[in-house]
Amino acid sequence: MLGSAKLIPVLALAAAAERSTPQAVDYTQYVNVFLGTEGGGNDFPGVARPFGMVKLGPDLLNSGTDSYSGYLSNGAFSGFTMMHEQGTGGAPKYGTVPQLPLVGNITNPLSSITVPRGAPDQGSVGYYRAQTGQNVIVELAAASRAGMYQYTFPAGSTENNILVDMSHVLPSFRGQGLGQGYAGGEFTIYPDGHYEASGIYNNGWNRSPDWTIYSCGYFNVTAETANAYTGTSSGGSVVQPSGSASSNSSNTYVGGLFTFSENIVSSRVGISWISYEKACQNLNNEIPEGTEFSTVVEGTKEAWNSQVLSTIQTTTTNATNLELLYSSLYFMNLLPTNQTGENPGWNSTEPYYSDIFTLWDLFRCSTALLHVLQPTVYEEHIRSMIDIWRFEGYLPDARSSNYNGRTQGGSNADNVLADAFVKGVRGRINWNDGYAAMVKDAEVPPNNTVPPDPMAPDSSTKEGRGALPDWLQYGFITPKYSRAASRAVDYAYNDFGLYQVAKGLGRWDDASKYLNRSRNWRNHWNPDLESIGYKGFIVPRDVSGFINTDPLNDSGYWGDPYYEASSWDYSWGDIHDMGTLVQWMGGPETFLSRLDTMFTVGANPGNPNGIIFDSTNEPTFNVPYLYNFINRQDRSVLQSRKVAKQYYNTRVNGLPGNSDAGAMQTWLLWNMIGLYPVTGQTTFLIHSPWYESLTINLGGNKKLVITSTGGDGNGDSNIYVQSLKVNGRPWKQNWLTYDDVFAHGGTMEFVLGPNPVQWATGPLPPSPATEPCV
Ligand SMILES: *[C@@H]1O[C@H](CO)[C@@H](O)[C@H](O)[C@H]1NC(C)=O
Ligand SMILES: *[C@@H]1O[C@H](CO)[C@@H](O)[C@H](O)[C@H]1NC(C)=O
Ligand SMILES: *[C@@H]1O[C@H](CO)[C@@H](O)[C@H](O)[C@H]1NC(C)=O
Ligand SMILES: *[C@@H]1O[C@H](CO)[C@@H](O)[C@H](O)[C@H]1NC(C)=O
Ligand SMILES: *[C@@H]1O[C@H](CO)[C@@H](O)[C@H](O)[C@H]1NC(C)=O
Ligand SMILES: *[C@@H]1O[C@H](CO)[C@@H](O)[C@H](O)[C@H]1NC(C)=O
Ligand SMILES: *[C@@H]1O[C@H](CO)[C@@H](O)[C@H](O)[C@H]1NC(C)=O
Ligand SMILES: *[C@@H]1O[C@H](CO)[C@@H](O)[C@H](O)[C@H]1NC(C)=O
Ligand SMILES: *[C@@H]1O[C@H](CO)[C@@H](O)[C@H](O)[C@H]1NC(C)=O
Repeated sequence: MLGSAKLIPVLALAAAAERSTPQAVDYTQYVNVFLGTEGGGNDFPGVARPFGMVKLGPDLLNSGTDSYSGYLSNGAFSGFTMMHEQGTGGAPKYGTVPQLPLVGNITNPLSSITVPRGAPDQGSVGYYRAQTGQNVIVELAAASRAGMYQYTFPAGSTENNILVDMSHVLPSFRGQGLGQGYAGGEFTIYPDGHYEASGIYNNGWNRSPDWTIYSCGYFNVTAETANAYTGTSSGGSVVQPSGSASSNSSNTYVGGLFTFSENIVSSRVGISWISYEKACQNLNNEIPEGTEFSTVVEGTKEAWNSQVLSTIQTTTTNATNLELLYSSLYFMNLLPTNQTGENPGWNSTEPYYSDIFTLWDLFRCSTALLHVLQPTVYEEHIRSMIDIWRFEGYLPDARSSNYNGRTQGGSNADNVLADAFVKGVRGRINWNDGYAAMVKDAEVPPNNTVPPDPMAPDSSTKEGRGALPDWLQYGFITPKYSRAASRAVDYAYNDFGLYQVAKGLGRWDDASKYLNRSRNWRNHWNPDLESIGYKGFIVPRDVSGFINTDPLNDSGYWGDPYYEASSWDYSWGDIHDMGTLVQWMGGPETFLSRLDTMFTVGANPGNPNGIIFDSTNEPTFNVPYLYNFINRQDRSVLQSRKVAKQYYNTRVNGLPGNSDAGAMQTWLLWNMIGLYPVTGQTTFLIHSPWYESLTINLGGNKKLVITSTGGDGNGDSNIYVQSLKVNGRPWKQNWLTYDDVFAHGGTMEFVLGPNPVQWATGPLPPSPATEPCV
């Protein structure tokens, strides 16, 4: 798209030398940055480096509609801002550090100005282009902690403005008290024409207290006029003759307006969580003066190719599937944000990652894929979470603007740490501290008053396990606590994580205690409750016994017994104890038909598509694969493939629900790969791969090569496994372990066909909590 051909060979050569591959492939051509941006997917289509602090993109205002990643397909531009999340729901966060181009005489710049869209936005990896209704072209490029804007104002126009309104945030219209606030800022224009600005913001989805972001901006041409302003929501904007504006009040806006007579203007902006000085440093390190816009674009493409997109290669030439594959890889590597060296909270030599959004979404299958594809990021992320515990007292389940929250279910970092531990992730992780952080989650209730959460006032949603007092006292959670039933399912999973790490560290007393506690989901099991012919469900309960519920329609939100999924859904939740679940549901036959019922159209007339299984959200991610626990791997293949093919596609609404920081995309990637992780254990369930060949580069010249014959090469037909070889040897069980194919690399050779055959005759996948003792 850009005339930058002269730069490509140099960058491509550098990349090739690094990876010592002869020919660098440009995988960015397969990424559709608009995939999943609509229909609730909330994907972020703007520009960013992998895990970059800067996510520069448009902010659209369409009153009444929450814009979670800034982008909407409709509405008017309120700014082009440097900070966004990826694919999140709940309530918007960020939309901070703005610029907005405006043509004409702007008399009241700090009046929350918007400008209509003039043409549909365009974008590709590293490059974004928008056109305003005033015919200004805005092009965007990003490095990690700095970004670049390039403006082309209409020919003949001489009043070409760039507005920087520090009061700008992404608003929320949901009326849940989760809207972000502006609490003040500073804006200073220096004699050389550059500006340094900061803003103070608060609230948003995690109800965070005030946080400050600093920025440092340069233009490549001299402004005719440059003024700092203060303004109020009710009144006009006032020029500050000093060129400097400051406010410590939410009612007083600050900002600047730069007016140019040139038609093409570019701007470089750096950001920092620490200081103006650091923001300028970040800018000059990454995008020094004189940097061509196209150099930044090419640098971003190169980063995605070498660090992310080349981690998976396939022989397929099918355009649809290449687009699904590489777009999914792209969107799963935007969060968390690597903020190492940019932690305003404490000084530490450990790495620092924020924008965890959220482990509740990500623990089931996403962090396990991050481990495989980005081992360095993964290890740094875990060290950072342990450091957060060190300095703030708790591991995060979610975190943004350097503040933990909100916690929807359990303390699910426990599951992630356990997964890393059992798979042998060591490096520079201090596992004694890691385990101590997990024990804190398991033993010490968080401070319930910080911050008060009106949507769930019973206990803290910031961190830890708010309902822990009941869990410790009774081994179940009473309705004194909101989300009691679904939190119990999570807490049991979390305790299983503690068991795994305690066992590995040789802490046998702890291990047996936590294994025992990991079975406490059973205390919420009402064996007599019946729903459409099936008996036994996870139910709310108090000290005197079970409380009635309708498993089909008891899904709720923060204040309810079940969070964002029903009792039908949550009853499958504790995958470490599947052996027990199979028995308690009535044995393999009933388990099979009950799983089938999850996917049967008409089973739940109350749901829009008539099925119980909820593809739009994470609690049921594991469900299509649970057939492996009764040795019906063929049904896992069938149901998971139906979900993948029915609910995911390459359109703008091609995700079934919120991406949730890439959680949805990782679920799809595992479906393409033919494996599914059981987080907290070394187990991977085997289903069937889509492609004739797919190679995962595991780093250090290790590879996992997955091939298939007899399929259609796209995963649409002939999907059933006929036979399998792992590392060259016939494989007869429907699961394998991390060591089998990931630790040192490996091969999986599938033969596929149109009909199920019972190829797996070996032992079932482990159910560690079903075993009688440690
Ligand atoms: C801009 O508008 C203001 C207020 O209407 C006016 O005083 C000023 O002269 C205008 N400036 C130009 C350059 O037209
Ligand atoms: C806020 O700013 C005003 C004037 O700018 C100053 O008088 C006041 O002390 C400041 N308040 C705080 C809490 O910093
Ligand atoms: C400023 O940057 C733009 C776009 O990169 C370029 O076209 C223009 O020539 C530059 N102007 C000056 C004065 O360097
Ligand atoms: C970190 O260290 C720097 C340099 O000593 C100091 O200025 C800063 O205040 C420290 N930050 C925190 C949060 O302690
Ligand atoms: C994270 O950021 C730090 C500071 O820029 C950098 O040193 C580190 O290599 C980054 N981590 C990864 C995995 O790129
Ligand atoms: C909990 O937080 C509140 C508000 O910050 C504080 O007053 C109280 O002392 C804290 N309680 C404990 C036990 O730390
Ligand atoms: C396990 O829990 C049961 C009852 O919930 C208790 O009787 C038993 O002592 C526990 N075992 C251990 C090792 O904690
Ligand atoms: C749930 O379904 C039952 C019938 O199965 C109905 O009586 C009840 O009103 C429904 N509850 C809700 C909250 O939709
Ligand atoms: C490409 O893949 C899609 C999805 O699997 C499939 O519908 C389509 O038929 C394939 N196209 C070709 C040419 O094979």
